[in-house]
Amino acid sequence: MMKTNIPNSLFIRNRANLMARLPEKSVAVFTANEPMPRNGDQFYPFRQQSDFFYLTGIDAENAFLILSPNNPTEQYREVLFIEPYDEVKATWQGEMMDNKQAKEISGIETVKSSDEFYAVLNDIALTGCDTIFMNTYEYPKYECNVETIQHRFVKKIKELYPLHQFGRTAPILNELRMIKSKEEFDITQDACNITAKAFRRCLETVKPNRYEYQIQAEIEYIFKLNNASGHAYAPIVAGGKNGCCLHYSKNDDILNDGDLLLFDIGCEYKNYSSDLSRTIPINGKFTERQKECYSAVLRVMKEITKLYKVGGTINEINQTTYRLMEQEMIKLGLFTAEDVAKQDPDHPLYRKYLMHGMSHHIGLDVHDSVDKYKPFQPGMILTCEPGIYIREEGIGIRIENDLLITEGEPVNLFEGLPIEIEEIEAAMNK
Ligand code: GLY
Ligand code: MN
Ligand code: MN
Repeated sequence: MMKTNIPNSLFIRNRANLMARLPEKSVAVFTANEPMPRNGDQFYPFRQQSDFFYLTGIDAENAFLILSPNNPTEQYREVLFIEPYDEVKATWQGEMMDNKQAKEISGIETVKSSDEFYAVLNDIALTGCDTIFMNTYEYPKYECNVETIQHRFVKKIKELYPLHQFGRTAPILNELRMIKSKEEFDITQDACNITAKAFRRCLETVKPNRYEYQIQAEIEYIFKLNNASGHAYAPIVAGGKNGCCLHYSKNDDILNDGDLLLFDIGCEYKNYSSDLSRTIPINGKFTERQKECYSAVLRVMKEITKLYKVGGTINEINQTTYRLMEQEMIKLGLFTAEDVAKQDPDHPLYRKYLMHGMSHHIGLDVHDSVDKYKPFQPGMILTCEPGIYIREEGIGIRIENDLLITEGEPVNLFEGLPIEIEEIEAAMNK
């Protein structure tokens, strides 16, 4: 990743917030991610584990963090361990971070070599420490069949200290990460601005007979040109019926005159995500039927945007959307009010045309730390993304904005980006 230059005040505050919630006689330990091997001497692009980045700003492998807030030895309260200098590695892979740089990035005074991690931990764990807090990625819908470095790390620490108690940092970090600081909001806004630029370029360059991957190339060009590290998630550039496939990511089809094109794209900038969906006519002009369907989704989006306020919940947004979209679907002739009256409540008819939830938090992860039941508070950033997917007509529509919860109206991070039918058509026919 490119250098983030995020002020270390963010990471200092993040650590302080976590440490304030750790009990007496405890220590918390964290490991950085490791590179994922690909083949030969190749690795997939490195991405730091999000909690490790949140607490340190360090974007490198082979690093550890110890937080021991009440330790009588002051230098042990926060200790960062980084990979020791290796001449061969520096020759092949480039400059390595030194202790001074690590201290500047993280704001941690005590920086040591990662070779010393287990010795320092031993000193802390066996001196007045009862509980070792460890971190795993806890996300309700996440299933991982790969044994990650976090899993191996947890196993090893538990083997080393079988008679200690153990705690989980994930619930605390989930809670903290849901509320974005001013610095995090500003970075997310920058990420959204880059994604917005990429979408504007698409409005000018989408034409019948181009390929989805060629439009993806336009997006990637704008992302990199504007200092984003890449995509925050697999981009969806889906023409016609492909737009009805919720996680379509092949992006290898031709764009047909008369079809819609659904984008779900977002850059990652300084490790923070943006998440945008828009749907446009490939030839620059919506058909009457496409207009009807698009207007239905946009109307509902405007209505549910009002629910992004203090005290609101994701569940309330979902239920309201389903109720409103059901009415819109009746108007679109997809089923009748009589059909709805007779439907099996466990399998409502709208589900055929709208199968997903309408909102998630974004942040260091595109589906960010979450307690989905938690009422909204100022500082949360969530998506608003209703859609309709009519497979029999080859019409897939999703519209998605990212919204900051405030004490008043939500702030749309994609404010001013074409969303109305007339705005989209005007931008495509300049
Ligand atoms: N791009 C992933 C999502 O919208 O949830
Ligand atoms: Mn999205
Ligand atoms: Mn989303």
